[in-house]
Amino acid sequence: MTQSTPRRGFASDNNAGVHPVIMEAIQKCNMGHVIGYGDDPYTQQAIKTFRRLFGLDTGVYFVYGGTGANVTGLQVMLKPYQAVLCAETAHIYVDECGAPEKFTGCKLIPVPTEDGKLRIEQLQPYLAMQGFEHHVQPAVISVSQPTEMGTVYTVDELIELSSFAKKHGMLLHIDGARIANAAAYLNLTFKEITRDAGADVLSFGGTKNGMMFGEAVLIFNPRLQNDFKYIRKQGMQLHSKMRFIAAQFEAYLQDDLWLANARHANKMAQLLAQKINEIDEIKITQKVESNGVFAVVPKRLIEPLRKEYFFYTWNESKNEVRWMTSFDTTEEDVENFAQTIRRILKNNLT
Ligand SMILES: Cc1ncc(COP(=O)(O)O)c(C=O)c1O
Repeated sequence: MTQSTPRRGFASDNNAGVHPVIMEAIQKCNMGHVIGYGDDPYTQQAIKTFRRLFGLDTGVYFVYGGTGANVTGLQVMLKPYQAVLCAETAHIYVDECGAPEKFTGCKLIPVPTEDGKLRIEQLQPYLAMQGFEHHVQPAVISVSQPTEMGTVYTVDELIELSSFAKKHGMLLHIDGARIANAAAYLNLTFKEITRDAGADVLSFGGTKNGMMFGEAVLIFNPRLQNDFKYIRKQGMQLHSKMRFIAAQFEAYLQDDLWLANARHANKMAQLLAQKINEIDEIKITQKVESNGVFAVVPKRLIEPLRKEYFFYTWNESKNEVRWMTSFDTTEEDVENFAQTIRRILKNNLT
């Protein structure tokens, strides 16, 4: 039986396969027996690598996925009467089926934002809740880096947020499901854009940039180190065959595979934006700073295009769509996609 390879699309970097180097690492560590639950040489090595990148006292904990990383990472930062301030577009608020609320018992407070970023002027009003027993107590600011709108916080913007958090007795959580794309865009190290910018806890992603599964919760704040291992297990995120996450991360971080993949995905997004900008009827709505392109398109484009390339409409009321590139997107993919858009617009004039 012959099988055709499905076409690469622009719906999500989650739709991409696994980078061959990662696949090889999974295969290579699939030998013999090692102790489960992280007490194995692969996990110890990957923890060492993370500590070399982020500081020797970093708490490094592997988990299954991004939602699990966010939920457990937030849980270690919160008491049930406390609350998280996050962008109204935040994955934790919109796309995790209420898991953060369910497992932390805390309220998430969505803050309106045009570009996915939080700024201290927007957070200031919530300070009025502090100290009043009838209100939940804002205790964590959670940002996504890059944001869900593809924009990237500068280090100065993050420092402003973390200083504000500290000044008002709060902590900073970063959802870094695509942290590699942000580091590649800013041309800075992981540490410079997270720990050095004042983050207390980071959800460190790998799946969207070439891994098969597995994320890491990195804990920088020494006060939060002791409890996490219990929270991870109780939160169903302790992988018994941990070596298969660890070996992926080791391959991902060694020789800067993460950087090559993220740079490539970002470059393909720039190319896609350039092609889209040449089409008069489409308007890009957000700065393209990572691997996502957001655009308002004519309504008549959406369904026919979706038949050829699946993708998500981001905002139905505005006909705003999200297109994402991946580590394996090619220039030819971008060209074919742009040509398909042009053809559909030309053939469906009304
Ligand atoms: C910004 C962000 N955070 C977290 C996640 C959660 O990842 P997962 O689907 O692995 O739970 C995603 C997934 O798309 C994401 O885009």
